[in-house]
Amino acid sequence: MFDLNAYLDSKRKRINSALNEILQNSSDSENLTAAMNYSIMAGGKRLRPVLCIAAAESVGGDEKNVLRAACALEMIHTYSLIHDDLPAMDNDDLRRGKPACHIKFDEATAILAGDALLTLAFQILSSIDFPTDSTDEKHATKWIEVINMITRAAGPKGMIGGQMLDIASEGKSLPIDKLKKIHYLKTGALIEASVCSGAILGGGGSKEIEHLKIYAKNIGLAFQVTDDILNVEGDPIVMGKAVGTDKQHKKATYPSLLGIEKSKSFAKDLVNNALQALGIFDNKSDPLRAVADYIIERKK
Ligand code: IPE
Ligand code: IPE
Ligand code: MG
Ligand code: MG
Repeated sequence: MFDLNAYLDSKRKRINSALNEILQNSSDSENLTAAMNYSIMAGGKRLRPVLCIAAAESVGGDEKNVLRAACALEMIHTYSLIHDDLPAMDNDDLRRGKPACHIKFDEATAILAGDALLTLAFQILSSIDFPTDSTDEKHATKWIEVINMITRAAGPKGMIGGQMLDIASEGKSLPIDKLKKIHYLKTGALIEASVCSGAILGGGGSKEIEHLKIYAKNIGLAFQVTDDILNVEGDPIVMGKAVGTDKQHKKATYPSLLGIEKSKSFAKDLVNNALQALGIFDNKSDPLRAVADYIIERKK
């Protein structure tokens, strides 16, 4: 039987030590370096980098070839959380069980730490060795494709667009399709890029990548629906962030539109779709299967 906890533990160790290396002496300002390190090392689940590595492994690729992309994805995600918590956005004081970056430091530092993590992520991604033969050239082409994919997922047609729509929809009752779109953009897009970048760098073929994309779209939405559910009935101590805040801010969420039970069965259906999309893969995809279940069963 596949042991997800052992898998997550070992991947998180690798990811954390790679992130630690990247962030050492990452700026000439002690304060900025401290703020970047603080938020990155505050204890996130590392879901996006784990997905990137697991997707690479599912197509026969190797962890070490995607570790750089995995770290960049976590840096982009952490930057999005730092900015998401700012007073001008969700105004949350607690993140990953610790004071949010703007509380621990100050708003200016939090904005800059977020900016720094975002830009450093692309510096890391684009540090490709110059091609010297045709194998290297193919390798470089894959990295460019991945950089373009991650840029789009993080940008105005992805996460940032979703964040804008999320803020703009506060206090409004949205049709379910509009909410789905917001959730896909603010959360799903980066999750999809995490899976697909791993699949591309891991050497996946087009059919494999297509199936992994369907898997990712489904777990991405299931992940945000579960985040909404946990904001209603989760334990703030376990989660390391406040609950009840979506209602307070009159956010458009699945529980507010469908109720808790229907939201849960919707998330379960999405995970079943994701598992079905993995039908073409062998047991190298067991980590992806286990992560899909974990996404809706998690308590944090
Ligand atoms: C929280 O993401 C924000 C959303 C996109 C829903 P995670 O639940 O992955 O947060 P960490 O990284 O574990 O803190
Ligand atoms: C976070 O969405 C999405 C991004 C940061 C891109 P939420 O605002 O719903 O997530 P939490 O609940 O604060 O983690
Ligand atoms: Mg938000
Ligand atoms: Mg938030």
